[in-house]
Amino acid sequence: MTTRKNMTLHRFRAMHAAGEKIAMLTCYDALFARVLDEAGVDALLVGDSLGMVLHGRDTTLPVTMDQMVYHTECVARGNRTAWIIADMPFGSYQESPEQAMRNAVRLMQAGAHMVKVEGGGWTVPVVRALVQRSIPVCGHLGFTPQSVYMLGGYRIQGREEAAVATMRAQAKELAAAGADCLVLELMPAAVARAVTQDLPVPTIGIGAGSGCSGQVLVLHDMLGLTTGTPPRFVRNFLAQGEGIDAAIRQYVADVKSGRFPDDNVHGY
Ligand code: KIV
Repeated sequence: MTTRKNMTLHRFRAMHAAGEKIAMLTCYDALFARVLDEAGVDALLVGDSLGMVLHGRDTTLPVTMDQMVYHTECVARGNRTAWIIADMPFGSYQESPEQAMRNAVRLMQAGAHMVKVEGGGWTVPVVRALVQRSIPVCGHLGFTPQSVYMLGGYRIQGREEAAVATMRAQAKELAAAGADCLVLELMPAAVARAVTQDLPVPTIGIGAGSGCSGQVLVLHDMLGLTTGTPPRFVRNFLAQGEGIDAAIRQYVADVKSGRFPDDNVHGY
């Protein structure tokens, strides 16, 4: 059984201040929550990617609040010490800060320690309202899966100068509004590095290169449990053949040491 202390917001801030990389994975159930926690994963993301990974959907858009609450409860039951971040699903925070608050409360009562919202600019009042009411928030910029139709598919973001400037400004606004970390998804490594250097809070990259303060992958992708071709930024940690526990421990070790991601193979 793990002997590590509970992850807290203060420990996250201390890890960031000390330059220690944060290892995060998605997690949707109690069994994996226990395995990931025991293997030393710092944060478990109950991502709305569960709609695609577990429920067979093409996008994350059909995922409901009830489904997020259910999976967050499962993860919280299996977890002992890791930090749990739950995604606010599509349609659960877009209307108003009041709507966001009502739904964030449900996720916190299900066992989340922090909620994640996608997008910049219009999300600032949402983030501010949640943080002021004691709900820690993680932002999410770059490729934001809930905007897949607006973004024209699963495409790398931040290729043009203007887009980079907007992203850097939005990241600073989210941190100023009280977001305690930011997921940066699918963008050139140099852009993610610049955003990270701008901010007082950690960034967690996925397909965003090695310059972030931590990394997250979809659990099933890094175990090779996919039917399609995995994205370029994924490394299959199970391929070394020593079992799931060893694969997760290797992921944590490689994120902490900077061996993952390798920008030449897993970056853009
Ligand atoms: O839902 C999810 O799994 C996510 C990650 C891709 C960061 O948001």
